[in-house]
Amino acid sequence: MTNTTIIEETIAFVKETLQGAEGGHDWFHIQRVFRTSLLIAKDEKDIDTLVVSLGALLHDIADAKFHDGDETVGPKLAQEFLNSLKVDKKIIEHVVLIIDNISFKKTLEVGGAKFTSKELDIIQDADRLDAIGAIGIARAFNYGGFKNRELYNPDIAPNLHMTKEAYKKSSAPTINHFYEKLLLLKDKMNTKNGKILAEQRHQFMLDYLAQFSHEWNPQSL
Ligand code: ADP
Ligand code: NI
Repeated sequence: MTNTTIIEETIAFVKETLQGAEGGHDWFHIQRVFRTSLLIAKDEKDIDTLVVSLGALLHDIADAKFHDGDETVGPKLAQEFLNSLKVDKKIIEHVVLIIDNISFKKTLEVGGAKFTSKELDIIQDADRLDAIGAIGIARAFNYGGFKNRELYNPDIAPNLHMTKEAYKKSSAPTINHFYEKLLLLKDKMNTKNGKILAEQRHQFMLDYLAQFSHEWNPQSL
């Protein structure tokens, strides 16, 4: 099977598997991460483009949030699928490690993620970029709505020092999520292009939050 066919088959599998997924984790999130990953990869050296493509396409194949916190479902599903296409074992191993290591929660753990690779760095940047800027704002409020969260509550301050457990259990208003996670992502970017894109999107979120605050407190205008 050629690389192009492997990628086409994977796209079809991901589209099929994610049918009915919530708006922040649907096929279009995957498509954006896939395209942004390839864009970032263009300016990086010695990149395995097949690994970048498959890792990006499969990175959210079974989000633990929707499988009772089971973080093994996604990597297993990806592995079975790539085995069925008879993809090279080394490539499968790398892609599975990427899926295993990509979540923000893992990097919150003491010691951080165990595995690193340039391909992982690229996909992680693309995934984080989709959580910030205009699309990131839309996804945050969509997720908050899905969880029935308040938009904002002036009496509930953001918690800037959350443990992994507290982060999981939190039912804080969506605006708090900007301070607890989204505004921190810019400084976590791995690649040159990732940093440039994150800078623009970060500034857009700051402008958005300033406007939100003006509208919430109209006397301050
Ligand atoms: P991904 O799976 O794409 O890496 P996450 O699963 O962490 O990202 O989150 C998916 C989207 O939902 C992101 O845009 C993220 O900002 C948003 N999200 C996650 N947790 C919250 C929250 N507590 N409040 C608002 N938005 C959230
Ligand atoms: Ni994602």
